[in-house]
Amino acid sequence: MANAASGALASLLLLSTIAAAVLQGAAQYPVQSQNLVTDNISVVEGETATISCRVKNNDDSVIQLLNPNRQTIYFRDVRPLKDSRFQLVNFSDNELRVALSNVSLSDEGRYVCQLYTDPPQEAYADITVLIPPGNPIIESREEIVSEGNETEMTCTAIGSKPAATIRWMKGDRELQGKSKVDITYDRMYTVTSWVRLTVTKEDDGIPVVCIVDHPAVKDFQAQKYLEVQYKPEVKIVVEFPQGLTREGENLELTCKTKGKPEPQQVNWVKVDDDVPSHAVITGSDLYIENLNKSYNGTYRCVASNSVGESYDDYILYVYDAPTTTPIPTTATTTMYTTTSLPGITQDSRAGAGAQRAVDHAVIGGVVAVVVFAMLCLLIILGRYFARHKGTYFTHEAKGADDAADADTAIINAEGGHNNSDEKKEYYI
Ligand SMILES: *[C@@H]1O[C@H](CO)[C@@H](O)[C@H](O)[C@H]1NC(C)=O
Ligand SMILES: *[C@@H]1O[C@H](CO)[C@@H](O)[C@H](O)[C@H]1NC(C)=O
Ligand SMILES: *[C@@H]1O[C@H](CO)[C@@H](O)[C@H](O)[C@H]1NC(C)=O
Ligand SMILES: *[C@@H]1O[C@H](CO)[C@@H](O)[C@H](O)[C@H]1NC(C)=O
Ligand SMILES: *[C@@H]1O[C@H](CO)[C@@H](O)[C@H](O)[C@H]1NC(C)=O
Ligand SMILES: *[C@@H]1O[C@H](CO)[C@@H](O)[C@H](O)[C@H]1NC(C)=O
Repeated sequence: MANAASGALASLLLLSTIAAAVLQGAAQYPVQSQNLVTDNISVVEGETATISCRVKNNDDSVIQLLNPNRQTIYFRDVRPLKDSRFQLVNFSDNELRVALSNVSLSDEGRYVCQLYTDPPQEAYADITVLIPPGNPIIESREEIVSEGNETEMTCTAIGSKPAATIRWMKGDRELQGKSKVDITYDRMYTVTSWVRLTVTKEDDGIPVVCIVDHPAVKDFQAQKYLEVQYKPEVKIVVEFPQGLTREGENLELTCKTKGKPEPQQVNWVKVDDDVPSHAVITGSDLYIENLNKSYNGTYRCVASNSVGESYDDYILYVYDAPTTTPIPTTATTTMYTTTSLPGITQDSRAGAGAQRAVDHAVIGGVVAVVVFAMLCLLIILGRYFARHKGTYFTHEAKGADDAADADTAIINAEGGHNNSDEKKEYYI
């Protein structure tokens, strides 16, 4: 019985011991509390990190800051740790603020703010050290590209933490690149990005920019200007005549070219025919004296460089030599407006509109003259018939005179009256 009792007592003791141990264990574990607040910190290598432990409702408990190895950095405003890079910034009832200067990668980790209550309260500040990438390096596969060809550019951002991201711009337009991330032996990241683009002549001189985005850097970029070769652009300009290309006049055409490289050769040809034998070609100029209708046709300026060949056409249409009739001034104005219009292919037939205006003016003048002549004619006719009517009456009288008797006189008179149709006509 006593044995049983002692056994029960022993087990009770054991139980209570275990319970006490468990309780004590619980008391040793710190709790994360709402009363203690801190922040995570991102800091660039070599710069200063500030760790701030804040207490909302202070009950005079002791506050301390521990490093990731749980060594005490600051106990209240006292620093047991030898590392002088840690300096007290502020110590008050509500805050312990410590600065860590010249941060290095080895300083990374979880720092602990601890409040000596029962159980202790803790809050964690993770320090992340950022390492900026080296200057971006941009390279292009070709130094000079021909229009329509594809080129490739590469940009590299070496040794950063975390990995950088690379974007591309051509002028103010974004380009789509492809990236690859490599981790080096020291756990740094190297990012390489490629971009492919097909160039046009408008791209010549346009910068392609590689933009590196990383939390430790701002406005980090490298650029390279595109150099694009393109075949010549050709444009024929009429130096004179200003108006229509008429027989007997002189014609001068200039061929304007632009290319990269500059065209080595500029030639004038006539399509399906020979350039008139007396035409003078000086460099890019074509000069033809004393135009003749037989010169009608398409004159072509051809320019070429290492990239290719292009041309522009001028259609010559020789009009008749000007007539002696002076051209009304209004028509002249129209003519200048028409011919001064710039055009890639200048067709001398563009003056046809002006020609029509001239015709209209001439027709107007002719109509006026005809109307005037008709009026004069009407007046003259009117006067003539007025006199003719008088003669008619005399004829009637003659009929009566010639008659042997009254009847014949009447018949004669009737015959005379047969002319009444004629008479009516006079009054129309
Ligand atoms: C700090 O960073 C850790 C991860 O490193 C995260 O779990 C935690 O929520 C962060 N704390 C704050 C206050 O942002
Ligand atoms: C320290 O913190 C207290 C309260 O947060 C503030 O009033 C005081 O100005 C701070 N002192 C310094 C030196 O920052
Ligand atoms: C910063 O720390 C590095 C080593 O981590 C040391 O070589 C350097 O001299 C320090 N710079 C300053 C200004 O203390
Ligand atoms: C560029 O394009 C031309 C044809 O337009 C071609 O002959 C040349 O080989 C191309 N160059 C390159 C480098 O691809
Ligand atoms: C135009 O050329 C032809 C021969 O090609 C010639 O007979 C004619 O007289 C020329 N006309 C003028 C106006 O020079
Ligand atoms: C040239 O054009 C004129 C029109 O101005 C036309 O009369 C003439 O017949 C044309 N000559 C040739 C050879 O085509």
